[in-house]
Amino acid sequence: MKHIVIVGATSAMAHECARIWAEEEATHFTLIGRSAERLQRVADDLKARSPGSEFATLTTDFLKPEAIQTAVDAAAGTRRIDIALIAHGWLPDQRVCQSDLNACSDSLAVNGLSPALFAEALVGKMEEVNYGSLAIIGSVAGDRGRKSNYSYGAAKGLVERYAQGLQHRVSGTGVSITLIKPGPTKTPMTRHLQVRGGSFARADSVARIIVHAVKVKKNITYAPPKWWLIMFVIRHIPHFVFKRMQI
Ligand SMILES: NC(=O)c1ccc[n+]([C@@H]2O[C@H](COP(=O)([O-])OP(=O)(O)OC[C@H]3O[C@@H](n4cnc5c(N)ncnc54)[C@H](OP(=O)(O)O)[C@@H]3O)[C@@H](O)[C@H]2O)c1
Repeated sequence: MKHIVIVGATSAMAHECARIWAEEEATHFTLIGRSAERLQRVADDLKARSPGSEFATLTTDFLKPEAIQTAVDAAAGTRRIDIALIAHGWLPDQRVCQSDLNACSDSLAVNGLSPALFAEALVGKMEEVNYGSLAIIGSVAGDRGRKSNYSYGAAKGLVERYAQGLQHRVSGTGVSITLIKPGPTKTPMTRHLQVRGGSFARADSVARIIVHAVKVKKNITYAPPKWWLIMFVIRHIPHFVFKRMQI
């Protein structure tokens, strides 16, 4: 039976990915999160859709290196990992981060350091058996620092550099690493922004892109794909123009 490990398994995007994987075939899922109760709700939903699947839930401290290593050891200890998805994240209020360094530190840690440490630990396990696909959810926000969200975007930029380094390290081996960069998507993380309008993708359509990208072992994928072009343009706007933009 396939073994899929999901870090931040209560995320709406991750849950949608798990639904697709569970409906494809009976799978052993290891769901990692902060709350046993919320993880169990995800496991119950998946079990109803895929009665043949099996579930292990694991809670851990997402910011402590030892706790991350212990969680990954426990996940990999049971059976070889086919796919691991790192999905946790938190969108802070940029203005709060500017006046409260604890909030700024939390954003950099939760969105940048923590996913990088999970990735390091998971790739270590995959390298041991020369097998496995790791997917990490970054963000279009990591493509260029913007005044409206750089405490979040800088952390996602760290995730991208880390993923690139890992991709370089495992190239030519049986391990693959995929970085997903979603644009704005309808999930609990962006509920307050959706109220203000704007164009948001659905979590299930982003999940389909993630699942496909993992299957074909893509290095990087934007979700939806139109964000590749949008961010290409944004990355190439000259500084003197960019500085005048309200984005
Ligand atoms: N939605 C978007 O527009 C968008 C765009 C680009 C990238 N992303 C990225 O996509 C990924 C999935 O997010 P989502 O949109 O599916 O949001 P979501 O449904 O709100 O899920 C957020 C996830 O992050 C976890 N989390 C939040 N704060 C945490 C903390 N301090 N420590 C550990 N875990 C924490 C949550 O766990 P609990 O259940 O324990 O709270 C939940 O599993 C994230 O990496 C996010 O940055 C989202």
